Amino acid sequence: MKLRVAVLPGDGIGPEIMEQGVAVCSAVARKFGHEVSYETALCGAHAIDEVGDPFPEETFRVCRDADAVLFACVGDPRFDNDPTAKVRPEQGLLAMRKKLGLYANIRPVETFECLIHKSPLKDEIVRGADFICIRELTGGMYFGRKQEPTINAEGVEEALDTNYYTRPEVERILRVGYQYARQRRHHLTVVDKANVLASSRLWRKVAQELAPEYPDVETDFMYVDNAAMRMIQDPKFFDVMVTENTFGDILTDEGSVITGSMGLLPSASTGTSTPVFEPIHGSWPQGKGLNIANPLAQILSVAMLYEYFELKAEGALIREAVNASLAANVRTPEIQVADAPRYGTREVGAWIVDYIEKK
Ligand code: IPM
Ligand code: MN
Repeated sequence: MKLRVAVLPGDGIGPEIMEQGVAVCSAVARKFGHEVSYETALCGAHAIDEVGDPFPEETFRVCRDADAVLFACVGDPRFDNDPTAKVRPEQGLLAMRKKLGLYANIRPVETFECLIHKSPLKDEIVRGADFICIRELTGGMYFGRKQEPTINAEGVEEALDTNYYTRPEVERILRVGYQYARQRRHHLTVVDKANVLASSRLWRKVAQELAPEYPDVETDFMYVDNAAMRMIQDPKFFDVMVTENTFGDILTDEGSVITGSMGLLPSASTGTSTPVFEPIHGSWPQGKGLNIANPLAQILSVAMLYEYFELKAEGALIREAVNASLAANVRTPEIQVADAPRYGTREVGAWIVDYIEKK
């Protein structure tokens, strides 16, 4: 297969983990006889510095014309504590999602047996937890009408975000939820706040109408506060969870830590144009340039990329190599066991490439 991949390394640890992601992508391509070509493009703080725009038109063109986007992460502390900044790196990510129509964000929450002791939850609660959060990604408060902080007529400072959803937006993401549920354990949990929010009542209404079309799937509804609690009390309850943009943002951070390490979870965003594959974690500016960042979420994003194109064996080989590296204690410092040798971002990536080549 021929694949054109747009590579967006972004900020912080992004370029370092991306180097390993691309190396693994190429190793798999060589092994299976695929022709993968790459085009690198600017985004995030890096793009603001270079061209004044966190998602330049040229980057959009590169993404649009590619078969897939491999994205690392964006964000820079220079912008974090400056609420008055006119442009922010995160706007690049939001622009990418909107312009590529990436309305479905698929975030699997999987546990790795050898890292369960790193989970803040008791072993017996987290062992075997395996669910997918499907987060709506191009609507809700992130994109609804906004007003930045301004002094109103009464002299009081005010600001506004609008949690706006339309029926078609809700319906298409719920259908994605049902499709995933059908491929898994046939259980869909719709997470909302329908006891308070009108937008959530729309979600619930549409879900109740769709449910009879999927009689093989058990649909249940859960308020988001309850879902946040259930995820730590009984994460095995969930199979596929589907929710709006903001709730999904919050719940997937919670989901990623219960597994023991955020550095291991990949995600896929799909929609009307090129799909994007990226780690769940952020740009970790403190780790930049130190060769300590965990490249596994980026590498597993490559597995998701191959799997998206129905290249199952390619994805499986990457997952096998990642599991083998963990089992061999070839791990970055944050998940390394006591007294084991130190491995950096590059060494972990190289070990995995080598495993794939020798297979
Ligand atoms: C995420 C991130 C982004 C989000 C930020 C960086 C804009 O937290 O992908 O979860 O809030 O969607
Ligand atoms: Mn987030």
